[in-house]
Amino acid sequence: MSIYVDNLRVDGKVLLAPMSGVTDVPFRALAARHGAGLVVTEMVASEDLATSRGDGLKRATACDAGGWHVVQLAGREARWMREGARLAHDLGADIIDINMGCPAKQVTGSLSGSALMRNLDHALELIDATVAAVPIPVTLKMRLGWDDENRNAPELARRAEAAGVKMITVHGRTRCQFYNGKADWQYVGEVKRAVGVPVIVNGDIGDEQTLTAALAQSGADGAMIGRFAYGRPWLPGMLSSALDGKALNVPGLAARHDIMRTHYEGILSHYGVELGVRCARKHLGWYVDSITDIGISLNAETAKLWRKRFCQEDDHRVVARSIDSFHETLSEEWAA
Ligand SMILES: Cc1cc2nc3c(=O)[nH]c(=O)nc-3n(C[C@H](O)[C@H](O)[C@H](O)COP(=O)(O)O)c2cc1C
Repeated sequence: MSIYVDNLRVDGKVLLAPMSGVTDVPFRALAARHGAGLVVTEMVASEDLATSRGDGLKRATACDAGGWHVVQLAGREARWMREGARLAHDLGADIIDINMGCPAKQVTGSLSGSALMRNLDHALELIDATVAAVPIPVTLKMRLGWDDENRNAPELARRAEAAGVKMITVHGRTRCQFYNGKADWQYVGEVKRAVGVPVIVNGDIGDEQTLTAALAQSGADGAMIGRFAYGRPWLPGMLSSALDGKALNVPGLAARHDIMRTHYEGILSHYGVELGVRCARKHLGWYVDSITDIGISLNAETAKLWRKRFCQEDDHRVVARSIDSFHETLSEEWAA
């Protein structure tokens, strides 16, 4: 099943969420190869990208695993959104996504991310500047509003669509909720009813059951998965296939071993060995946590020991060997 972002066909209705520090090139490459409908870069500060500052360029790089290249931009000034969008387009972006959902204090404090939902006129200036700057579709990711008294996502969505935005993703929480409480998928339906462009529901979706409920309650055209993809880069693609009626194909131990090794090697090659070993740590820990998905329950002490082996070792060859012995040990213990 497909979604159209303007004239771009997206095959697969479950997308990988942008997550700073997580959905870098190696992670997105894996998610894309496993069938995620779209994968979105980590948020890139438009000013950093436009002025070649920080790691903006590295974050905006395509993952070369097929599919559309979606670069997410954050910012508070129209001129930087314009310049950042042009640069992302020059780098090969097929879609520019604008971040109006980030709740982090350092982002809202500089009046970008979800702070833009407090001033829709200003939000629209940024959208207008971005849409006018590039000949590719611009999409928007937002929350329900700043707080419960100001749930203005439907109004922002309506105005964004009129300004030329081609798809809208809504995380079903307000900014003031951060990650507390539960995502309100029903309210995302208010956005769906307000616009004609595709709407994507996001928040707390991690299995077939929550996916079906989120789509039914919101009426959204597709769904986006963030935190449940930790240690499960295959999850958006797997759930996308399930929507097409295919049986759930949860990777078994051997497949997980392959994925973990590919991921680890991808990280080393993307960041270089020294930084790569450190960047890989959280991901390797998440793979330990997600092993329960295939019915293997490690006791807390054993899981802690493996995490320690992945997270306290600086020699990349030792870590690689630990990845192998993790799976070898489990396969001996759990095949018995
Ligand atoms: C570590 C982390 C980093 C995130 N970074 C971004 C980001 O760069 N851009 C963005 O739009 N949302 C970001 N988000 C929000 C997610 O895209 C998503 O909206 C949110 O996690 C809710 O979805 P979930 O319940 O599936 O995780 C981030 C979330 C997390 C947990």
